[in-house]
Amino acid sequence: MTLINDNLLLLRRQEKSFSMSFVTLRRPDDFHVHFREGKLLQTVAPYTAAHFGRALVMPNTSPPVVSASTLSSYRLEIMMACRTYSFEPLMTFKIYPALSAAELKALKLAGAVAGKFYPLGVTTNSGDGVSDLKAITHILLLMEELDLVLCVHAEQPEVSSLSAERLFLKHFYWLVETFPKLKIVVEHVSTAEGVALVESLPPTVGATITVHHLMLTLDDVINDFLHPHLFCKPIPKTTKDKEALLEAAMSGNSKFFFGSDSAPHDRSKKENHQCAAGIFSAPSALACLAKIFEEADSIAALEPFTSEFGAQFYGLPLNESSIYLEQTDEKVPRTIEKLVPLAAGKSLGWRVADDLSAQRTS
Ligand code: DOR
Ligand code: ZN
Repeated sequence: MTLINDNLLLLRRQEKSFSMSFVTLRRPDDFHVHFREGKLLQTVAPYTAAHFGRALVMPNTSPPVVSASTLSSYRLEIMMACRTYSFEPLMTFKIYPALSAAELKALKLAGAVAGKFYPLGVTTNSGDGVSDLKAITHILLLMEELDLVLCVHAEQPEVSSLSAERLFLKHFYWLVETFPKLKIVVEHVSTAEGVALVESLPPTVGATITVHHLMLTLDDVINDFLHPHLFCKPIPKTTKDKEALLEAAMSGNSKFFFGSDSAPHDRSKKENHQCAAGIFSAPSALACLAKIFEEADSIAALEPFTSEFGAQFYGLPLNESSIYLEQTDEKVPRTIEKLVPLAAGKSLGWRVADDLSAQRTS
């Protein structure tokens, strides 16, 4: 009996290596994530820490991360929630015009790697956003000097949501010309025009691409029904935009790297007449990416996109450990506590081996 079992096991292993049902990946980083705060943070952050070596944590918490002391206490809260993982949060702060030079230097000393620019009112907790980019010129000059990266939510306020990114893009010419050494990231780029602009600008400009913008168009969000769990900012757009993003992600151009923009909101806030923007993608992001890259016959392009280009842009060493993606029929959980993850209830054909979500289904 044992011999039969052993032989079966051997056969399965051989089958697996023959059909390449495992993919080894240098441990990836997520260069754009929302961890929230309190109980929600405790729930969601471990899903990122289980798969990713590092994540760039967005500062649009309530209250926001705007000072060295809020940054340090937020980092501690994240590290406590992720203490069983080998995981490093990369901290950001929210840029606002009254930020003093002394506070900016203190933020740098406290370990900030980037500042996030939110135009006024364009997304979750951006009611305190900036209405005029030029009002933060003095801050951007100092960020350039201190080697702090500028992360930009690139949407023009108060215009049609389908045009918001396209209409914002002109500001990048001014940014690049005025701050030639400042590293700038176009966050969650969502249009063909955005991709083309990033390609055309100097190497100081890169872009994050989310997994949901590689999967969705507007028709997935609104067609026969409204799908609140797929509603996010910037809104997924046309097939042409999605194709440009897929091409950029798989191109091997190191300006484009992975940032999930995993942005959890409780079901009560999503399934609501004023649905909150944000997709909780952390538990299934890598499985979705494996499916997308495999289907495009580009699985070899996955590792640079998730595990190399972002670190290189931020001047960080590559992670040394690995994760394993394995083929499976397993389905993404329908819910995780009070949250609905991306691809809920679907079989993606892939999972991260030893995935935390396997233990926390409901
Ligand atoms: O959909 C989004 N949700 N886009 C953002 O830019 C912010 C995020 C959030 O914090 O909920
Ligand atoms: Zn975001």
